[in-house]
Amino acid sequence: MTASVRVASVAEIPVGSALEVVAFDRVVAIYHTEQGFFALDGVCPHAGGPLAQGQVLDGEVACPWHGWRYELATGRNCVNPAIQARSFAVRVEGDDVLLDPPAG
Ligand code: FES
Repeated sequence: MTASVRVASVAEIPVGSALEVVAFDRVVAIYHTEQGFFALDGVCPHAGGPLAQGQVLDGEVACPWHGWRYELATGRNCVNPAIQARSFAVRVEGDDVLLDPPAG
């Protein structure tokens, strides 16, 4: 079982921002919203757009390349639920933002 990894400090991802990191051999987009932290695969399932650079609104991120939107909490595509950006459990311990390994 792979342990959680520290991906950033809380100060590195202020509310309203996102950060692209590499964890578990993947690019992961970490978002900090008023509702807390969320983490999705950083590579858009459509054509590889950088999801950390997408605009976040109402719990969704819009891919900057073609606008596909994903729910931050689940990674589910907002138009076609069969399309999924992998989501990760992210939590804060002290000043550390930790990412849990992907399930499965
Ligand atoms: S690459 Fe993300 S919507 Fe096309």
